[in-house]
Amino acid sequence: MEVVILETENDVATWAADRISDLLVQKPDATLGLATGNTPLALYRRLSDRFAKGLVSFKNVKTFNLDEYIGIEEGNHQSYRTYMRKEFFGKVDIPLENTHLPYCSATDNPREVGSAYEHDIETAGGIDLQLFGIGANGHIGFNEPTSSFGSRTRVKTLTKRTISENSRLFSPEEFQPHLAMTMGIATILDSRRVWLMATGQHKAEAVGQAIEGPISSMVPASALQLHESATVIVDRSAASKLKHIDYYNWAVQEKTKLARKFDTFP
Ligand code: F6R
Repeated sequence: MEVVILETENDVATWAADRISDLLVQKPDATLGLATGNTPLALYRRLSDRFAKGLVSFKNVKTFNLDEYIGIEEGNHQSYRTYMRKEFFGKVDIPLENTHLPYCSATDNPREVGSAYEHDIETAGGIDLQLFGIGANGHIGFNEPTSSFGSRTRVKTLTKRTISENSRLFSPEEFQPHLAMTMGIATILDSRRVWLMATGQHKAEAVGQAIEGPISSMVPASALQLHESATVIVDRSAASKLKHIDYYNWAVQEKTKLARKFDTFP
């Protein structure tokens, strides 16, 4: 695992935008796994700015989002489909038919939706790079604590803590879903690269447990310790509970020299 500690939230977004731009030069038809929430917003802004300047194109990119709420329609302003259109898809040249979210309508069978999503990811050739944020309880996607490391795209019940953390985004009279369709942990681990992005002090505890704690389904993000190409990109605040910061910084410097030598996507 590589742990990249940067000064600010903006630096985290720039680091990620630089590498995604490099990846798209090497592989213009890459398949990206995407997340919603606060964490990737600055990254999406940077990528859309680069597109506007003609520096990057998404016209051959395919995307698969981690999750989508159950119980609200795709067009609802609270749906993750709407978030993705507003924050990213609508600002770049990606054809909407190349974008996927695990949407399960009231009449769909969630098992079939889950299997179809897995099948679509496989048919697309798998995910080249999966981005994810982390919940304060260590969740990734909506894989809440106790989620199996063998899990695949399915329905998960959100914890009361997650519901309460996300309640700031819903007005009091608005329906807030308690269920979501989410890629499973095994789905995420199948991606060729995984990136955990985290910013802010409120993520420090979860980041510390995910990176330096035991691998446990009680901290779903600790599953990334099992991935052969996992990168954690954090700002100083989110890194504040890590015990091996000197080593992580030194390892990044050494690896950067090697990447320059072989001119690879680091
Ligand atoms: C979003 C998702 C969630 C968030 C996590 C962090 O698609 O799957 O796991 O990444 O809850 O949310 P933020 O970024 O809002 O702190």
